[in-house]
Amino acid sequence: MLSETLEQGRAAADAALDRLLPLETQDPVSIHKAMRHSVFAGGKRLRPVLCMEAGRMVAGSLPAGIDELGAAVELLHTYSLIHDDLPALDNDDLRRGRPTCHKVFGEALAILAGDALQTRAYEVLAKLKCPAEARVRIVAEIARGTGTVDGMIGGQVVDLEAERTAPNAVMLEYIHRSKTGALIAASLLSGGLYAGGKDDAVVHLETFGRSIGLAFQIVDDVLDLTASEEVLGKPVASDLREGKVTMAVIHTLERCTPAERKLVEKVLEERAFIGVQHEQILELLTRYGSIQYAHDAAAQHAEIARRAICTFPDSEIKSALLFVPEFVVERNS
Ligand code: IPE
Ligand code: IPE
Ligand code: MG
Ligand code: MG
Ligand code: MG
Repeated sequence: MLSETLEQGRAAADAALDRLLPLETQDPVSIHKAMRHSVFAGGKRLRPVLCMEAGRMVAGSLPAGIDELGAAVELLHTYSLIHDDLPALDNDDLRRGRPTCHKVFGEALAILAGDALQTRAYEVLAKLKCPAEARVRIVAEIARGTGTVDGMIGGQVVDLEAERTAPNAVMLEYIHRSKTGALIAASLLSGGLYAGGKDDAVVHLETFGRSIGLAFQIVDDVLDLTASEEVLGKPVASDLREGKVTMAVIHTLERCTPAERKLVEKVLEERAFIGVQHEQILELLTRYGSIQYAHDAAAQHAEIARRAICTFPDSEIKSALLFVPEFVVERNS
């Protein structure tokens, strides 16, 4: 049932995105090509799907025009990915199975394409077809979720500043909550607001989103260590190469021998797998049970997420949403 919901939501989000973005033939063509290159590279569209399904659960059926809200969220998410891949941030060459925006169009246009997706998102939000009061609150909540105080940009800043340190559990949770959880939570919250949800309902949806967000980033970090580039559509072991120490690596560092610690430190120093191979690190993490540890931590957040929406009346859409936490934890890309 969830796969059907995801598939339908993805199609609705794609159609809205296509409608809302200037054509590639629109002047200046270079920026519109760059924007479309990244938006239509085949993302999972999880945020718009969650946004639309939150609206459907509150209203009982899909509120008219909510696909545009979902699309705006996806535009913001894609802007964050374009900037996240830049050499000044994660310096990644592959995204959604395609060369990253800056690899194809150059850094300047990639920066501007990210900016432009953000600007377009707010233009779309300003024109949402819902009561003005809800519209204003949606704009404020989405701006907060992507902003600097406990929002996406704030999380990205702390993520950068934590490079080459082993952040403690509190700091790691702050990074996950802000850089990833805040936008996912805002997607659900804004979907609920769009549908006219009352405070109680939207708070539960937001809590659901926050816990999914924590699980989502823990799994993203695990997949960065364990997945293949082909399946993931983005480079693997990118975090270690960028000096980013994630939950599973911290777990191993707290248990391993000084010689084993040196192996991890060598990768962080070399910013590449030269003296030490990716497989050696993976073997270490597996031997210390650290991959399993991170996976279990994600599963715990998934369980908390499920509990957050148990008060909604039973419905088909609630059943589908209850599968999302598991999908997030068990996904392989
Ligand atoms: C990747 O998000 C960035 C993170 C917050 C971890 P997704 O895994 O949702 O990326 P797409 O949209 O499917 O490409
Ligand atoms: C990025 O986290 C979260 C964003 C706000 C874009 P990551 O840097 O881990 O995301 P990926 O792995 O590049 O998709
Ligand atoms: Mg990053
Ligand atoms: Mg990245
Ligand atoms: Mg990642």
